[in-house]
Amino acid sequence: MDYEELRETLCALLQKSDEPVSCLANAAALLYQSLPEVSWAGFYLLRGDRLFLGPFQGKPACVTIPLGRGVCGTAAAENRVQRVPDVERFPGHIVCDAASRSELVIPLHSRAGRVTGVLDLDSTRLDRFTEADAAGLEAAMRAAETRINWEVWPGCPADGT
Ligand code: SME
Repeated sequence: MDYEELRETLCALLQKSDEPVSCLANAAALLYQSLPEVSWAGFYLLRGDRLFLGPFQGKPACVTIPLGRGVCGTAAAENRVQRVPDVERFPGHIVCDAASRSELVIPLHSRAGRVTGVLDLDSTRLDRFTEADAAGLEAAMRAAETRINWEVWPGCPADGT
């Protein structure tokens, strides 16, 4: 996978709108279409002590996730990428699609560095996401997050507060 090209395409797409929901919707579509063997690609956004479902591609999913719970809640609470080769071995994994076998979750940040949500990718293949996938996608998200106008997102942590 050419992650540099993916990052450039993503950044070009995000320049088309200042509206976070439009940016994240196109980002989810790009990732879902570009990454092989990904069954779900989307965003959970932080509001208070819960993540709520944002733009995504794939099957309908859990609407809210408490901070610190599941793979997504852990990534957001610890501000750390979670690469899970086998979801059945992750204590507290939240099942949205019973066919999901592996998962990669990457935190997103405001310009001031506060966690605003996560990118969540799922696969029906065990150990789908390599270290290189995690590094490439984290770099793409670091570039993408600076182009998202988090300040206008209701309830998301604003810079400087
Ligand atoms: N499995 C995730 C929940 C979100 S869905 O996979 C779309 C988790 O444990 O946080």
